[in-house]
Amino acid sequence: VNDELELALAASPREWALRLHRHVADHGGARVRVTVLQAADALAERFDVFVADDTTSFLTRHLVAELHALGRCVLGVYDPDDPRAKGDLLDLDVDDVIERAAAPEAFLACLQALAPRCRRDLTASGVAEAAPGTSRARTRPRGRVTAVASPSGGCGATEVAIALAAAADRRGEVTVLVDADELSPSVAQRLGVASYPNLRAAVDAVEHHHGQLGDTLVAVPHARFAVVPGLAAQDWLQLRPPEAINVVAHLAVLRQQVVVNVGPSIDDLGESGPARHALTRTLLSVADAVVAVAAPGPVGVARLLAWLADLRALAPATPVHVAFNATPRGTFRRAELTAEVSRATALASLSFLPADAAVTRASWAGTLVGRGPFRRAVSALAAQVLPHYPSAAVS
Ligand SMILES: Nc1ncnc2c1ncn2[C@@H]1O[C@H](COP(=O)(O)OP(=O)(O)OP(=O)(O)O)[C@@H](O)[C@H]1O
Ligand SMILES: [Mg+2]
Repeated sequence: VNDELELALAASPREWALRLHRHVADHGGARVRVTVLQAADALAERFDVFVADDTTSFLTRHLVAELHALGRCVLGVYDPDDPRAKGDLLDLDVDDVIERAAAPEAFLACLQALAPRCRRDLTASGVAEAAPGTSRARTRPRGRVTAVASPSGGCGATEVAIALAAAADRRGEVTVLVDADELSPSVAQRLGVASYPNLRAAVDAVEHHHGQLGDTLVAVPHARFAVVPGLAAQDWLQLRPPEAINVVAHLAVLRQQVVVNVGPSIDDLGESGPARHALTRTLLSVADAVVAVAAPGPVGVARLLAWLADLRALAPATPVHVAFNATPRGTFRRAELTAEVSRATALASLSFLPADAAVTRASWAGTLVGRGPFRRAVSALAAQVLPHYPSAAVS
């Protein structure tokens, strides 16, 4: 029996979440079981304490009451610079509050103090039987969020993200592809579709109720999946990471598979000045799975390993799949790449995608990649990365 305190963290781009996550990964004392994107996730998962921000959009009095009914505690994290934040959290009836700048040790002390109040043995279904009406029946799980990146840039993240979305689409799952590469968004151009409404418009729909999110999705010709095109040049300066998380969380309610093409760089440029890679960092930290598309060869491997180390700080427990793209055939080279990467970190899967003239043709024509070795290899990758959405639950 593992009686370590189990936590659910509301997805937050603020530093406390990352610090706490890293601290317990390194020193124990608690375990982060899940990062939660929306209320339904918090109700479905088993854990002891739910830790959420004063900016967590779905933290309501009703959710806190439902969590209490399930035997869970709620710790609210507030920004002391916002004079109303602490009071607002206490009004929701959370069990305790803590300043967001508090040290991880202080967070742990606060969490440990809540432990005796938590009753982990209760599950959502258990409570539903005991007290009908306290827990909303979840008729269907949310969609899966998969982030696709190319650590060195230019080695095929966009091509692989599009092909993964197309593979899920061919499997019959309702899919959306989001272009969240803040450096060089190119999904719309690559597919020859309109570049607006884009991610900015999706944020406006979710945050400011300017239209419906579903109406901002751009259709892809000859496919059923839709696209959210990337930001225009300077838009990333205005987009706040929590807004992007909210869009993705909402898309995961509308769609069974949410594939997100993120940018290549994730190094933290510090808190001074605009957070250049914040969008990519944030989305990687909330994804259910990450695909790193790497260039085969010594330089590609070196960049991949550095990137994986940074990723582990952001998303310590997220399954990571590595795909070497446009890999030369020889088995010797593949074995060498496999050895180098597996020595460094545990991967959920490692695959090799071939260079394929069908990709070149499709990229010139602005179409989806047709049958051929690349499409076959990405379908096999999709089988590993994107678990089938439970079909019984599809509405
Ligand atoms: N397996 C492949 N076979 C042939 N061409 C490929 C293959 N993979 C990618 N390409 C081509 O290589 C180029 C770069 O790919 P892509 O745009 O997907 O990379 P990226 O990692 O998204 O780059 P960026 O950093 O600019 O976003 C594109 O022209 C693409 O069509
Ligand atoms: Mg790209």
